[in-house]
Amino acid sequence: MAPLNYLVVAFPAQGLINPALQLAKRLLHTGAHVTFATAGSAYHRMAKSDPPEGLSFASFSDGSEEGLRPGIDLEQYMADIVRLGSETLRDLVVTSLNEGCKFACIFYTTIIPWVAQVAHSLQIPSTLVWVQPATLLDIYYYYFDSYGDIIRNLGKDDPSASLHLPGLPPLTSRDVPSFFTPENQYAFSLPLMRVQFKVFKEDKNPRVLVNTFDALEPRPLKVIGNVTMFGIGPLIPSAFLDGQDPLDKSFGADLFRGSKDYIQWLDTKPEGSVIYVSFGSISVLSNAQKEEMARGLLSTSHPFLWVIRNDKEEEVGGQEDQLSCMEELEQKGMIVPWCSQVEVLSHASVGCFVTHSGWNSTFESLTCGVPMVAFPQWGDQQTNAMLVENEWKVGVRVNTNERGIVEGDEIKRCLELVVGDGEEGEEIRRNAKKWKGLAREAAKEGGSSDRNLNAFLEEIQMEAN
Ligand code: UDX
Repeated sequence: MAPLNYLVVAFPAQGLINPALQLAKRLLHTGAHVTFATAGSAYHRMAKSDPPEGLSFASFSDGSEEGLRPGIDLEQYMADIVRLGSETLRDLVVTSLNEGCKFACIFYTTIIPWVAQVAHSLQIPSTLVWVQPATLLDIYYYYFDSYGDIIRNLGKDDPSASLHLPGLPPLTSRDVPSFFTPENQYAFSLPLMRVQFKVFKEDKNPRVLVNTFDALEPRPLKVIGNVTMFGIGPLIPSAFLDGQDPLDKSFGADLFRGSKDYIQWLDTKPEGSVIYVSFGSISVLSNAQKEEMARGLLSTSHPFLWVIRNDKEEEVGGQEDQLSCMEELEQKGMIVPWCSQVEVLSHASVGCFVTHSGWNSTFESLTCGVPMVAFPQWGDQQTNAMLVENEWKVGVRVNTNERGIVEGDEIKRCLELVVGDGEEGEEIRRNAKKWKGLAREAAKEGGSSDRNLNAFLEEIQMEAN
C-alpha cells in the first residue's frame, strides 16, 4: 500500500507549533509523508533545518509579517487569520490534490477550527490536536452545554464558592480559564471555541488527540458529548523519553533566538540547586512584577536561570536592562533571551521551575520530574496551576496581592516550600518523581499514549481505504 499523506496545521505560536510538530514526527514513524503548515509570520522565523525524511513544511497566510507579538491588535489579527488562512490553506490542499497528493487526515491545533471547515468542504477527514489538558476541553464542553451562566458568575457573590462539574475537581473562579470573562484581553478565543464545538456537532465521529496521558487525567479523558478523546502525550522531543530516538533533541521550530552557554553554566551547579524561570512565548511581565521576581530570586541561596525574551530582537539591550538590580542578578544567576527548555528541564542541576503554567511548560516539567512554582497569567494557565497544586501535587501556586502583583516575599515563600527541607517540599519532589515515571511509561512503545495514537491511526487508515 502507498504511504499515507497527512497535513498537520498549527496556529502560529510556539506553544502550538511545538506539540504539533512533535505529533508530525510521530506520524512519520508509521511510514507516512507529513506536511507541516503554519502561518507565514511564524513559518519565516521557524528554524526548519534538517527536517527528517518524509517531513516537509508549508505556509498559509495570516496577513501579517510580525505575527503574534505583544502589542498587536489581537482581534484584527484573529479576524485576518480566519479569512486569509481559510483561503490560502484551501489553495494549498487543492494544489496538493492536483499534484496527486490526497491527505488522509488534516490535523489542526486549538483555536483554528476553520481548518476543519476547509477540510470538510474538500471531503477530507480532520482531527483536532488539543494542546491543553483534557480537563480544559471538558470545562469548555460544559460551558457551551448548559453551565455558561454558572461558570461566568462563579465567585461573584462568594469568592470561595466552588463548582463541581462531572468528573472534574472542584473549580473556584480563579481555576477556570480567564477567557470566560469578557474584559480579558484574550476573550476573542471564546467565539473560536464556540465554532469548534459546532464543528464537533456537525461531525459524525469527532475525535480529538489530547496532549496528556490516561493516568494523568483518567476521568476528564473520556467521551464527552459526541467527542472521543485520545490521550497521546507527552508530545515532547523523544530524546527526553527513556529508550527513544536520541537524535530527537529539540522541538526544531524555535521562533526566538537563544543563547548558547547556559548548559555549560548549568553543568557547574550542584544537582537540584538551580531555579529555572520562564513565562513561555507570549506572556510579558510588567516591570513592577519583574522587580518583585528579582527580589524573590535574590532572597534565596539558589542560583537561577531566568528567560526574559527580547520580543523585538533588533532592540539593543532588550527588556532585561530595565531591572534595577541587574548586577546582583548576573552575579548569582544567568539571564537569557531564550533557551532549549526541554534540555534545561532535563538537566540534573535544575530543581524547580517558576512557570506561567502554559500547558507545554507544565507538561514538560512534569515529564522531566521538576517541581513547580505555578505563576499563571491568563487562559488555561489558571486551570493548569490548580491541577499542579491540587491534583498532581507537584508544585505550589503563588498568591497575588490586591494590585495583582506577586510580591518578592511570596515568591520566596513558594521557592522555600518547593526546594526547602520541609515535609511539604519532600512530598512535592516525591510526586514529581512519580509523575516523571508515569509520563515515560505512557509514551514508550506499548504504553497508553502509544496504543491510543496507534488505535486512532488504524481508524484513519481503514477510512482511507
Ligand atoms: C500558549 C499558552 O500560554 C498556553 O497556556 C497554552 O497551553 C499553549 O499556548 P505559551 O504561553 O508559549 O503557550 O506557553 P507554553 O504552553 O508553555 O509553550 C511554550 C513552549 O516554548 C514550550 O514548549 C517551551 O519548551 C518552549 N520554550 C519556552 C523554549 O523552548 N524556550 C524558552 O526559553 C521558553
